[in-house]
Order: sequence, then structure tokens, then C-alpha cells
Amino acid sequence: MTAIARNARFPRPAFGGPQDLFYPRKTMVDLPTIVRGEGIHLWDDAGNRYIDVIAGAMCNNLGQGNQRVIEAAAAQARKLTFTYVRYARHAPNMELARRVTELAGPGFERALFVSGGSEANDMAVKFLRQYAVAKGETRRTRMISLMPSYHGNTLGTLALSGDTDLDATYAEMVPFSTKIPAPLTYRLSGNRTAEQQALATAEALEAAILKLGPETVLGFIMEPVGGVATGANVAPDAYYGAVRRICTRYGIRLVYDEVMSACRSGKFLAAHYWPEGKPDIVVMAKGIGAGYAPLGAMLAPAAMVDELADMTGFNPSHTYNANPIACAAGCAVIDETIERDLIGNAARTGAHLKRRLEELKERSPIVGDVRGIGMLCAVELVADQATKAMIPPEMYIADRLRLLGLEHGLILYARRQCQGRYGEWTMICPPLIVAPAEADEIVERFERTLGALADALKAEGAIR
Ligand SMILES: Cc1ncc(COP(=O)(O)O)c(C=O)c1O
Repeated sequence: MTAIARNARFPRPAFGGPQDLFYPRKTMVDLPTIVRGEGIHLWDDAGNRYIDVIAGAMCNNLGQGNQRVIEAAAAQARKLTFTYVRYARHAPNMELARRVTELAGPGFERALFVSGGSEANDMAVKFLRQYAVAKGETRRTRMISLMPSYHGNTLGTLALSGDTDLDATYAEMVPFSTKIPAPLTYRLSGNRTAEQQALATAEALEAAILKLGPETVLGFIMEPVGGVATGANVAPDAYYGAVRRICTRYGIRLVYDEVMSACRSGKFLAAHYWPEGKPDIVVMAKGIGAGYAPLGAMLAPAAMVDELADMTGFNPSHTYNANPIACAAGCAVIDETIERDLIGNAARTGAHLKRRLEELKERSPIVGDVRGIGMLCAVELVADQATKAMIPPEMYIADRLRLLGLEHGLILYARRQCQGRYGEWTMICPPLIVAPAEADEIVERFERTLGALADALKAEGAIR
């Protein structure tokens, strides 16, 4: 491999420059300039090849350059570029709504399309609020969510995200949701099992509802499979039914943020794993646009949508809601995903990948935990496997791993929350088209990357 084209001393031009000029200097240096992509591979301007281990941002499920999707978007642009959903209907909107809701199944018969995950979560909360107001439940304003969690970056959704780093900057600006502990499975209190801990966190939901006053609570939002905020945490099965029953008991709506997990968990919706935990609303995004179109969706029961439409209606909209080109791309993405059984591949090759990563844990002293489901996995990094001691947060360990990954031909992801208080991990979420042999190549390169990191940490005295 030739030397990576580093931007370490990236100039700050008088005008313009790349997006990363906005990001923290400390951790965002050394980004490669990617000039070409094919399948799961990317090439930089010095000719280095990388495997995209995180599918862009856990979204590029079909990999790069899918001709069917590109053609569908181009054909739609040539035929009808844009109309506005409030004043005209178009076929790609109806086609995408049919595909997505049929796959989601009963209880999710209506779909509202926006431009991404944050907007879709925002819409979900606004929809529930408008429904509650229309039904005379005007005191229902409070949302409950998990700590840690991530629900997006609009002012509305960062108020839902469980990230203590946001407090100082935004807590005075927008009403933050009430946070309860996430059902984390790796570090358990006392002698608790993961299930006991999860059920205790479900009890925390009930306690929060009672403290706020049930009549003031609008909804509880959670990622059924965690994303970057928890490193692909999957709660024990009992958790999902438990929170559903609590929500039902108090007339509180359960929202699953499946922005990352939809299409990726090995089922169309992760919600399909836990029928007894069935949510009222599902939000999805990344997997339906797959990096080809900015798309997000809020799925809701026909009974609620139709009832609200007969009362006040649900009024918010954005210019690019159900954009025709995005919807046409989305239809092709769904067709490719289903016809090539990529959800099945997420389950099968995802299980293979996870097994290989678990084997790697036996060989690498800094792998503490391997978690996830389907093609949504994460590896937690530790200083000591036996004690689960974290590597000190000031070492920005996931970022160092990301930079070393580039040297070993891997694009890795690092975004820390809560200043690393819950630990640090790296996501292993390649495009769903990944073949078992390619998954093996990812693990081999990842092992070399981890080895280089462990050697450096040993030399620095950070691990033994
Ligand atoms: C679980 C979850 N919710 C919401 C979002 C926000 O989606 P977007 O970045 O498309 O606004 C993300 C993005 O990573 C996510 O992972």
C-alpha cells in the first residue's frame, strides 16, 4: 500500500474547504480524500484502497455504484423532477409507501417520508403530540428516552438523545426529555444478570412516568438495537415486552428509532424480533435511502393517522418530504434489498462476522466485548478484559483506532458520547452486500489494526 494521502496539515482556505473544517481539530485530522467507490471498496486520491467497514454512516447498504438505483433515480429525474406533496401526488411516493408498509406489516400501514433520521424522529414526536392534542390530552408533552442513546441532531432530537455532552450547550434552549438508564448488557451492577439489569431499567421507566405524572407523558423513544451511542447494544428479550406493557398501562406511546437498525438487524424491522414489544411508531432512514438518496420515514398505524386526519390532520411538512427522486431511489433500494435477500445476508453473514470477531476477542487483549445483531455489530475496547477497565477517555482510543484503520485499509467510525463514560467502541457495520470472504478480510485487517493499537498502548504503558 502506498502512503496514505494525509491531510494532517490541511490548509484552511480563505473560502470553502471540506466539511471536516467544522469538526474538532484534535480528532478529525488525517481524513483521506475519497475519489472512487465500487461495492464495499473505496479508493483515495493516492490510489489506496479501503474497505468501508461502516457503510458510509451505517447506511450504504447496497455498497457503491448500484446501477439499478442510479438508473431509477436518473429516470425519475428525467420524467418528473419535483412536485410538492401538499399540492400534488406522485407515483414514487405511493410506490415507496406501499413497499415499506407492507414489509413493516400490520400496525404500520401509513408512511410519511422526510429527508433523514433526525427529521423522521422529529415528525414522530410532533405526530404523537398533535394526536394527543386532538384527543384532548393536552398535558401530554413530556418524552422519556434512554441514557445513553442517539436520536439525531435537530434541536428537537438532540433533546431526546442521551448524551451528557449536550447538556451545557443546549439544555437551557430546548426542553430535554427525561432520561432513564439504557439496558446495557456489558457492565452490570453487582451480581445482576443482563436480564435482571434490563428489567430494573424497565422499572425505571415506570418510576419516571409516575414521577412526571402519567397524564403529562407523551411517549418513550428507544433504539431497539443500539447504534453508535451504545455500540450495538441489544437488550435481553424480556426488556421489550416489559417496556411495552408499562407504556400501555399508562397510555404512553412507544416509539422505536430504527434509523440504523431497519434493514440491518437481520429482519426488515428489528421490532419484528420482539412481537410482544411492538411499538406504536417506527422511525427508519438509513437503509431505505442506502446513501443514494436522503430519505427517512415515520411509520404509524392507519387507525391513528386516519383518525387524526379526520380531526385536525397532521400538518407539518418540509419542502423535500417524499421527494420524487428520493422515493424512486428508495423503491429501487428496497427492491434490491429484498430480491437479493440482503436482509437474510445481514443475518447470515452478520452472524459469521460476529463469530469471527468473538474469536478475535480471544486473541486481542483490548477487545472487551463483541455485540450486536445482523450486520449491526460493535467491538468495545478495554484496558483489561478481566476487570472490563476502560482505556482512559483522554486517550481517544476509538479515534486512534480509526486512524490506524486507514493504515490497514479500513474505514472505521468513531464518535464518542458522554465523554466516553460508558466506554468506547467501534462499529462493524459493512454494506449488506458483503460476502463471507470479504467479512473475513475485514476481520483480518481489523486484527492487524488492533494489534498495532495494542502495541502502541503497551509502549505507552496504558495497558499491560
Ligand atoms: C438511531 C439513530 N437515530 C437518529 C439518527 C439521525 O439520523 P440522521 O443522521 O439521518 O439525521 C441516527 C444517525 O446516525 C441514528 O443512528
